[in-house]
Amino acid sequence: MPVLISSTEATPKGNVPANESVGIDDLAVYVPRLFLPLAGEFSSNRGIDPGKLVKGIGIDRMAVVDAHEDAASMAAMSLLELMRRNRLCPEDIGKVYVGTESAPDEAKALGTYVIGMLEQIYGRGSFQEASTVEFKAACIGTTFALESQSYWLAGEEEGKVGVIIASDVAKYPLFSAGEYTQGAGSVALLMKKNPRLLALEQIYGTFTRDENDFFRPMGCTTAVVNGKHSNQCYLDAMQGAFDSFAGKAKRKGVITPGTGESVTDFADHLLFHIPYPRMVEYASAAIFRHDWRESRRSTGIERELGPEPVAREFDDPQKYQAAEADYARRFSRSQEFLQAFAAKVRDTAILSRQIGNIYTGSIYLGLASLLEMQKIHAGQRLCFGAYGSGCSALFFSAIAQAGVESVPLRGLMQRLEERKQISLQDYELLHEGKKKESVLAPNGEFALVGIDEQGYRHYEYVKAMDMRASKR
Ligand code: COA
Repeated sequence: MPVLISSTEATPKGNVPANESVGIDDLAVYVPRLFLPLAGEFSSNRGIDPGKLVKGIGIDRMAVVDAHEDAASMAAMSLLELMRRNRLCPEDIGKVYVGTESAPDEAKALGTYVIGMLEQIYGRGSFQEASTVEFKAACIGTTFALESQSYWLAGEEEGKVGVIIASDVAKYPLFSAGEYTQGAGSVALLMKKNPRLLALEQIYGTFTRDENDFFRPMGCTTAVVNGKHSNQCYLDAMQGAFDSFAGKAKRKGVITPGTGESVTDFADHLLFHIPYPRMVEYASAAIFRHDWRESRRSTGIERELGPEPVAREFDDPQKYQAAEADYARRFSRSQEFLQAFAAKVRDTAILSRQIGNIYTGSIYLGLASLLEMQKIHAGQRLCFGAYGSGCSALFFSAIAQAGVESVPLRGLMQRLEERKQISLQDYELLHEGKKKESVLAPNGEFALVGIDEQGYRHYEYVKAMDMRASKR
């Protein structure tokens, strides 16, 4: 029988049977050592009010990849840190799943490059029993990898662990509206039975629809995006996935709202995909508004805002849309929303403000933000809402485990402070692939050292303090 819980009598384990749980045991984050502040040279050159970038979009600094970095080298860096933090041997790892939408290759799995790099350290052939697959589904690829690996792990009988790596360079054309949401980085998740951080409740609510909101044409390094449409697709898909999750959670008896209660009352943290921090505000406003409609909160909200606009009461659809946009704006400033946002959502975007979009990994950057701020406590339920253009959303939940407060922190805030600020000129040269020499020579890291005449990419581990310049 599933365990029944309510917000007031939550069991520490939620829907997770003792000794059978699977989930996230640890995570490691890699962020390039270069950044460009959005307020300053960039905003004045682009003729954009810095307030729009820092407040309206929510990004202070965007991470920039150096000449020797790409999605594969960043993935290898996050995996190396994950293995070192957890004293893992390659033989412990059964599967290396990679979520990316910025792979440099149309066929060869990015994970093979990653394994090749790691074998420079752990020995040739050391990963040969680990399978690696690339999950491509725009920004949701890593989350589909997580869902898939959770089923494998539940049936794994040889004591193997799994690894999921998100790695992306989020890149739009110079001077485009997507440019100021760019970023780069990688997150590696260690997936285990009886994990120390989060046990998955194995309830996945999905929504999929064919949409033309974003894609990256073959051979291009930058994405084509219909920005405003992508925001709307995100919100529609998130609501669909939330409803699917809520229905399943109720049918399984895992979340059973009483009179006046709503599903989000049973979540302590809500982590959404973060293409830019303001999007998390839009997403949570849409989900809370939707979820609270039948709850006791609706009375207070109606008292504060008046009734919601109803489509059938407008003879002109444009007037309805204007009234709806106005109501949505006022809802996002209401006391009820602001309190819930501050308590359950706001802190997930702390790292993204300093990094920008990392596509498939951005939702797990949200998890890293909460972990680094020590905001997650044993027994809490975390709900995740992932989105990928094209489009799909997946909503799932996990329960924080007893070990969540004892897993060592990663010093991410400090590492972000130690990055090097680059000029607008260097950023543009790197963006266009015109800067062949690295701004910071590789040092204790994997580096792309060449692309041969057939197009194969070659990587090398450059030892710390070995200041050889990139061979390219
Ligand atoms: N000070 C503070 N806020 C300001 C401002 C200023 N001077 N000027 C504008 N803003 C606010 C706007 O009011 C708006 O906030 P609101 O929604 O609360 O009204 C916000 O900044 C964004 O500005 P807006 O002009 O609406 O957006 P944009 O044209 O810059 O486009 C994206 C934003 C996200 C659509 C664009 O960057 C993009 O295409 N990004 C890539 C795709 C993407 O990330 N999609 C997300 C879903 S996956």
